[in-house]
Amino acid sequence: MISKNIQLAKKVLESDGIIGFPTETVYGLAGNIYSDVAIQKIYSTKKRPSFNPLIVHIKGIEDLEKIAKEIPEKAKILAKEFWPGPLTMILKKQPTISDIISAGKETVAVRIPNHPIALELLKSIDFPLAAPSANPFGSISPTSALHVDGYFGDELEIILDGGVCQAGLESTIVGFNGNDIIIYRLGAISVEDIEAVVGKVFTLNNNDDSPDAPGMLSKHYAPNTSLIFSADIEKEIKENQGKKIGLLLFDKPIENKNIKYQFILSSSSCLKEAASKLYETLHELDKLGLDVIIAKRFPDIELGRTINDKLERASKK
Ligand code: TXA
Ligand code: MG
Repeated sequence: MISKNIQLAKKVLESDGIIGFPTETVYGLAGNIYSDVAIQKIYSTKKRPSFNPLIVHIKGIEDLEKIAKEIPEKAKILAKEFWPGPLTMILKKQPTISDIISAGKETVAVRIPNHPIALELLKSIDFPLAAPSANPFGSISPTSALHVDGYFGDELEIILDGGVCQAGLESTIVGFNGNDIIIYRLGAISVEDIEAVVGKVFTLNNNDDSPDAPGMLSKHYAPNTSLIFSADIEKEIKENQGKKIGLLLFDKPIENKNIKYQFILSSSSCLKEAASKLYETLHELDKLGLDVIIAKRFPDIELGRTINDKLERASKK
């Protein structure tokens, strides 16, 4: 049930249940971090492999030390700059964080979401929330309560409605290695914005073999319709002649009257706007009964890099 009733959400969470809840990035599937029953429900509902750890959501910086220890100086600087907001940090975990949440790792992922309803909910309960994105494993992340309802409507007592997610992309995940900062997942905060605060960072080459980032499987964020991702879409259009094609484009349509479905993510060429509409548009395209979606590579800067990363994974077979 989609509802704005925070009290009901609180009640479900306090009795080992899980809920859909809004954040500024994407909707999450949330449960009490101290309830193993709730955490197991998250994994089973999402059909998520148990080797893929969850993000802990806290209400404020005062809760960080209950979750993580030995917090590096640079993490404190990043927290000050970007929290509450779409930055997740991988830190050494406190022993009270269960191995189910961290998938047996010595580290834990943590962030403070920047969404009024998420924060109000977190302040009303006396435990943080573990929450992966509220989509079945591998599919497109939800950016509205309706998306979550489409995925898990019957299984959730409540999906807390917080409107359309303003960032529309997952949080950027960073980890620390000595004095170095490593980007584990590109997300709603650009690498450029992070480097402006802490200097040069390293980007992990995410793939299935990467032991540090179990969740960064190469196929992810995928619509059911097959998706081709290319810098040369004219060529792809030719090769797919006769098929029902939908195009996903940055700022302008292409001249081809045969292609009726052309989705422009930002006619003013704003990467942030494009990022916020990416998943919503993929959900839309997926409903059109197309034979193929052809997405054009975005400029490889700022949030264009994040968009390209997601589309690359969405295109994997
Ligand atoms: O924006 C977001 O981050 C959303 C909202 C709901 O907060 N959540 C989200 O969670 O995207 P999820 O579970 O879909 O992605 C979390 C990613 C996974 O790829 C997981 O592998 C990684 O974080 N992760 C979690 N804990 C980790 C750890 N200790 N070490 C390395 N990666 C970790
Ligand atoms: Mg996810």
